[in-house]
Amino acid sequence: SAAEKGGYDYFMLKEIAEQPRAVADTLLGRIGADGRLTLDEMRISDQELREVDKIIIVACGTSYHAGLIAKYAIEHWAGLPCEVELASEFRYRDAILSPTTLVIAISQSGETMDALMAVRHAREQKAKLLGICNVNGSTLPRECDGVLYTHAGPEIAVASTKAFLTQLVAVYLIALYIAQVRGTKWGDEVFAMVQLLERMPEKVEKVLETMEPVRELARSLAGERCVLFLGRHVGFPVALEGALKLKELAYMHAEGFAAGELKHGPIALIESGLPVVVIVPPRARAVLHDKIVSNIQEIRARGARTLVIAEEGDTSVEPYADTLIGVPAVPTLLQPLVTTVPLQVFACELATAKGHDVDQPRNLAKSVTVE
Ligand code: AGP
Repeated sequence: SAAEKGGYDYFMLKEIAEQPRAVADTLLGRIGADGRLTLDEMRISDQELREVDKIIIVACGTSYHAGLIAKYAIEHWAGLPCEVELASEFRYRDAILSPTTLVIAISQSGETMDALMAVRHAREQKAKLLGICNVNGSTLPRECDGVLYTHAGPEIAVASTKAFLTQLVAVYLIALYIAQVRGTKWGDEVFAMVQLLERMPEKVEKVLETMEPVRELARSLAGERCVLFLGRHVGFPVALEGALKLKELAYMHAEGFAAGELKHGPIALIESGLPVVVIVPPRARAVLHDKIVSNIQEIRARGARTLVIAEEGDTSVEPYADTLIGVPAVPTLLQPLVTTVPLQVFACELATAKGHDVDQPRNLAKSVTVE
């Protein structure tokens, strides 16, 4: 009913708008007054975490994209090797697991059969199991040694939005917490990141306030057949997520690429008028940033119509952007929290312009309880 949707036409719109709150709720009670993290509820002891020598993340769909971003955070802050695998593929390969391997399964619903089967497979090989889950009392937490809940609140729309942002918060907390208990060389940075995480709800709110140009562009693209998404580093999984949202909701061919791979094939797809969304890393990461700016020039020279998502005030991309969306300046690893939001709005608006019900896309179920 309209009341359940809080005055929005779709649950998805409501859930997109709820993201600042969802992010804040997922941080709540986990950061002490001294800036140190407490994740006791996780039920995996600090001693056990110190013994971990490898992390494997398993998940499906959007949750898998959160896992891909987690890899960057875990390797950097926690200093541990980390692999990310689609849950449906994981159990059919001969992954090398041991009691000092931590397997993290990410699932909004906690009922995704592929994720549950991956967890059972890991348990047989005696790995430690941690779930990241949004639904209290669902199956996944019961099958794991420990769980860290996201506090997104109920997500009704089939396309994941607020659950994804809170999964990112959860993986950042885990990476930073492992860094804290292991005492990695990034001590000061870890402390600074925790402070910054607390400011992320207001940054996400700022993004939401500036979405009109994204909506306008989305409406103008309703007649297109294909949209490409490019990103580097954590911007690459964000590109994959932007493409998945568009497939699910607008039933359009959409693909995400690592910008560095352009020359290895995808650049052949670029033709006059093709819409390409590009996620630009912060200027502080000069090498990454400059490489993507030259990628934008390359595709623009071949006629692409560019939607560029970059840090506010990043004038270097202006000459190559048909539409430029500024997002608040945040460190590279946290940037997906602000760059994903315009892509959600983009897909939602484009699908609505095509007349689709964004809450109930065709052929999809909210949780996939079969393999
Ligand atoms: C997201 O928009 C999708 N509907 C889908 O990819 C989803 O993320 C996937 O099925 C995993 O679901 P889960 O997080 O509940 O395990």
